[in-house]
Amino acid sequence: MESPFKADIVKGKVALITGGASGIGFEISTQFGKHGASIAIMGRRKQVIDSAVSSLRSLGISAIGFQGDVRKQEDAKRVVESTFKHFGRLDILVNAAAGNFLVSPEDLSPNGFRTVLDIDSVGTYTMCHEALKYLKKGAPGRSSSGGGVILNISATLHYTAAWYQIHVSAAKAAVDATTRNLALEWGTDYDIRVNGIAPGPIGNTPGMSKLAPEEINGNKAKDYMPLYKLGETWDIAMAALYLASDAGKYVNGTTLIVDGGLWLSRPRH
Ligand code: HXC
Repeated sequence: MESPFKADIVKGKVALITGGASGIGFEISTQFGKHGASIAIMGRRKQVIDSAVSSLRSLGISAIGFQGDVRKQEDAKRVVESTFKHFGRLDILVNAAAGNFLVSPEDLSPNGFRTVLDIDSVGTYTMCHEALKYLKKGAPGRSSSGGGVILNISATLHYTAAWYQIHVSAAKAAVDATTRNLALEWGTDYDIRVNGIAPGPIGNTPGMSKLAPEEINGNKAKDYMPLYKLGETWDIAMAALYLASDAGKYVNGTTLIVDGGLWLSRPRH
């Protein structure tokens, strides 16, 4: 689908996207690139990164990939520094890397719970922490008044409760708290805007193929989805463009729900 935004809304910006080689992260990489940004992708799997970078370059997008795990502080530091060295600045950090599996609390070990918090919550914080020195106003490549932007990909699971997702619900609740606290402190001190996006079920993503299945893909579930359809990665990328560009310049500390209204709904009776 064609973008409703002008092709230069993030022109000249440099975006680092964790989990940027697949699913929602890859579409954000693609759309940011198509709207003028240079793209650095961070991910764990070299082959997946290489193929994503080739696809971006074939669209004429300036792109580079770095292998790394957001759970390792040294990887986060190296990737942020390498992005800066390669492009000479950093404007946008998108935390899209996430871990997930369906499991009941009885079967989830504390280490399994911790693993997902390590990726989603601590990983997001670690990336923000390492990126601060390049995102804050007055950083190399930035003006003394303009700070960068952080976007944290969240979920809606923890607004209520979600079966077999206790670890992810807890992890995303921490992500939302991190978004608000950094928005407050870094918005005030460094002119950095920090926002989140909470996607609903999005088709053709690793998350969906793992998590859902029939109940959401089947017609039964569609009966109680307000817009009667799954979202597309494109929908999340457009929300990301709005928040990361000047269109969202007064938006700070919010997590924008992009789920077609699903989290509000109950089956019709
Ligand atoms: C129960 C599991 C498990 C499973 C791992 N563990 N998989 N427990 N069921 N299916 C437990 C292990 O037993 C172990 O605990 C601990 O977790 C660490 O396991 P490892 O295999 O060592 O972890 P690791 O190789 O680091 O992999 C972690 C991973 C990750 C979380 C499984 O590889 C992963 O999820 N990758 C997929 C990425 C993905 O799907 N991304 C999309 C996210 S979608 P013990 O106690 O045995 O040592 C998303 C959307 C949310 O986030 C919102 C949806 C609406």
